[in-house]
Amino acid sequence: MKLPETQLALLEAASATEPRRVAQLAEELGEDTAAVTRAAFELEAAGLLAVEERVTEDVTLTEEGDRYREAGLPELRLRAAAVEAGAGEDPAEMGRLIGAAGLEGPEVDIALSNLARKGYGEIEGGAVAVGENPRYDPDADPEAAALDAVAAGDVDSIDDGVLDRLEARGLVERTETTVRSLTLTDDGVTALMEGVEVTETVGAVTSELLTSGAFENVEFTEYNVEADAETVHGGKEHILRQTANRVKDVLVGMGFQEMEGPHADADFWINDCLFMPQDHPARTHWDRFALDVPPMAELPGDLIERVEDAHRNGVGEGDGYHSPWDEEFARAVALRGHTTSLSMRYLSGHAVGDLEPPQRYFSVEKVYRNDTLDPTHLLEFFQIEGWVMAEDLSVRDLMGTFTEFYEQFGITDIEFKPHYNPYTEPSFELFGRHPETGELIEIGNSGLFREEVLSPLGVDCDVMAWGLALERLLMLMYGFEDIRDVHGTLCDLDLLRNVEVVY
Ligand code: PHE
Repeated sequence: MKLPETQLALLEAASATEPRRVAQLAEELGEDTAAVTRAAFELEAAGLLAVEERVTEDVTLTEEGDRYREAGLPELRLRAAAVEAGAGEDPAEMGRLIGAAGLEGPEVDIALSNLARKGYGEIEGGAVAVGENPRYDPDADPEAAALDAVAAGDVDSIDDGVLDRLEARGLVERTETTVRSLTLTDDGVTALMEGVEVTETVGAVTSELLTSGAFENVEFTEYNVEADAETVHGGKEHILRQTANRVKDVLVGMGFQEMEGPHADADFWINDCLFMPQDHPARTHWDRFALDVPPMAELPGDLIERVEDAHRNGVGEGDGYHSPWDEEFARAVALRGHTTSLSMRYLSGHAVGDLEPPQRYFSVEKVYRNDTLDPTHLLEFFQIEGWVMAEDLSVRDLMGTFTEFYEQFGITDIEFKPHYNPYTEPSFELFGRHPETGELIEIGNSGLFREEVLSPLGVDCDVMAWGLALERLLMLMYGFEDIRDVHGTLCDLDLLRNVEVVY
């Protein structure tokens, strides 16, 4: 019989009577564990070795756990200091005890909460009294004993509940590992007795093999595609980016073209063109990320005039705001709070020249808002902006477009609620039902642009428009409840690694 070198070495190192662990054999053979595991599975497939798998749990002390094992658990130190200070009779002042117990920083809170939990003492009005009937004997505290047991490698003696508690306190860490043990089978013994030779098989193609031409004469090792292998997490496009790309594909499929434009823009494009009065609350520093940069110099002069006139005097029947309007204020630069700034740049003809109806445009881009972080709000998010310019549009067209769009993502129960925007009339908010919680969540805002917006832009047909939140679409598609599952330091890596964005 002929076997590759590693397999033969492994066969010779294995025993028929005593199971031997892969890790130990790998060390003995000076090979890496993955190579030995691979060889073991090959030999198992050939019936020469038996592989037994056991999942074991490794428990180790964290740095904090180790510190408490040496110095004592904070609650025990506090208890000892209290007993010393005679707190069995009269409650002792907390500050003194903390000093005497040598507790520092977060240890103080840890000591106090665990002291109460274990009934070692009562805390009242800044003083500690030693408890009457503690839940444990302080000299035989099960958590302290368990720390010693973990350090000694005697984990089996520890009660499960105690181990759970230590883990919750961050004092121990548990990791699962698969341990594989190998035993020679009868066929394996027979093969060894009959004699096994080494085949010169090659595991990988090297450039040397290729250039020398030697690859033509060597035998390559067969792959075992069923063998267990280490999981490798390669780089991957973020779910948000994948979904954004999918949204773009869907909109292009619906006949839309993509808009582009600056993240930091003049307030003129972000707000003034949208008939947002300059004293609107959304335009204060509370909501908007102002940038300390020079005002935007290039703005179309005639458009500025018409926008100012719409604000001051109104358009058609409308009466305008008659409120102050300041050109310098309009030129100030901020991070855009919505991508409707892009729609203004395109509708005005400033971006790609004058547009004749019908037209459809979109963007899937980042916007920035000075919100308070919570499960559904971030300081920045992706907005799916879009608009359709045509003669005689109605709310039915708007609803039909959304129904068609969301259907592409399997969402068929969109609801509409009348809304107010300074720049659209009528306006609608969109809602979708969360697949896990059943709650209606807001997913977008939309409407038909008012005459006060369109007339200064020089558009004399209808324009329906919207801004939808990409992150909310994701919530409806994948069912997660907290936006921070996919963004930032708290994000769920398993979700990001495993989730599939399907078409
Ligand atoms: N700009 C609005 C928002 O950010 C969305 C919107 C765009 C509404 C265009 C109507 C028309 O919520």
